[in-house]
Amino acid sequence: STRRAAHGATVHPLQSAHRGVRAKGGEMGASKNPHDDISEVLIDEAKIAARVKALGAEITAAYPGNDELVLVSVLKGSLVFVGDLMRAIDRNVRIDVMEVSSYGGGNTESSGTVRILKDLSGSIDGLDVLIVEDIIDTGLTLNYLTSYLAGKNPRSVRIVTLLDKPARRIAELPVDWTGFEIPDKFVVGYGLDFGEHYRNLRYVGVLKRELYASLIGEA
Ligand code: PRP
Repeated sequence: STRRAAHGATVHPLQSAHRGVRAKGGEMGASKNPHDDISEVLIDEAKIAARVKALGAEITAAYPGNDELVLVSVLKGSLVFVGDLMRAIDRNVRIDVMEVSSYGGGNTESSGTVRILKDLSGSIDGLDVLIVEDIIDTGLTLNYLTSYLAGKNPRSVRIVTLLDKPARRIAELPVDWTGFEIPDKFVVGYGLDFGEHYRNLRYVGVLKRELYASLIGEA
């Protein structure tokens, strides 16, 4: 539940695996005021709101008719995005949630092994499915999830993500809607966390490097 930051080409792969860096309370050194831990606001609240509204309109237009559309929110990062996005979609929708973990444990690079911690509650047989993600990084999580969901006989499976870090991609994916392409920086806020903190920030910001440097083997 953490993302990766920019690193030079000589950096050991483990050091760029920020999602594998699980910061626990004491290790984090988080400030009392979460805004103090942000070095740069990458996407402000107004810009997010405008983009989410536009995505909602595009998605509404892409699913004409009254057939059921199931939004599959991938916890926990997409919680904030899906809440805003579903209210920008002007048609009948149903929402379901899944929680997945894309690595076996420890500070390891994403392996492509995805464990399902919480599966869908309802059937998607014959229905249009839209996976809602906060961020696509290596693409390994969604690569697994799209084929997993395709196995449940839906009519269609499409993907919307708020953020995309194309620089980090390992598995190529057909991403149908992207909010923002971002550089390879360690971002938090608007649902995205570091050590489960910062999800409630109303903007997407870059985490100060000193907050996680020791966890990736930097002094
Ligand atoms: C994030 C994000 C995606 C995944 C993307 O989840 O929500 O599920 O990482 O990474 P990938 O493209 O490299 O597979 P995370 O594991 O951080 O959990 P969280 O949503 O609960 O914070």
